[in-house]
Amino acid sequence: MWNREPVGGPFSLTDHGGKPRTEEDFRGKFLLVYFGFTYCPDICPTDLVEIGRALDQLGPDGEIIQPLFITLYPERDTPAHLAEYLSLFHPRLIGLTGSGAAIGQAAEAYKVYYRKVETGPDTYTVDHSAYVYLLDTRGRYLGFFPPNTPAERMVTIIRSHLPAH
Ligand code: NI
Repeated sequence: MWNREPVGGPFSLTDHGGKPRTEEDFRGKFLLVYFGFTYCPDICPTDLVEIGRALDQLGPDGEIIQPLFITLYPERDTPAHLAEYLSLFHPRLIGLTGSGAAIGQAAEAYKVYYRKVETGPDTYTVDHSAYVYLLDTRGRYLGFFPPNTPAERMVTIIRSHLPAH
């Protein structure tokens, strides 16, 4: 489960406040990186709930963690829409969107599988892998949590990587 194959890399996206963001903006933070889309009926909301619970359980120790939600459906997931959606889960979540090409580049860096499945003339749903990636303060990949990982498990693993204090 705890993959050592390197994951991560440069991205250039727009956050849910409309501000341009790259991976460099988050150096100094541990990252929890999750790819999905706001209309996802099932696994995305479940995992976002667990990420939010994990942050709450970590308390002040969790302030060094920055959770990122990168949309795989950028046509619908505008910054404003991401802001509204993510506020349902945790105030510290940052949503990222961008052009289809920019999202594709980020997904490739994180080895995320996703595929559009048409559901109507101008709509589609997205089949996607749903791993929560953990990176350290220098952007080095530490591993991933599989879908449906409970917050308690995330907290145990995250704590094992946090600097001692
Ligand atoms: Ni999803």
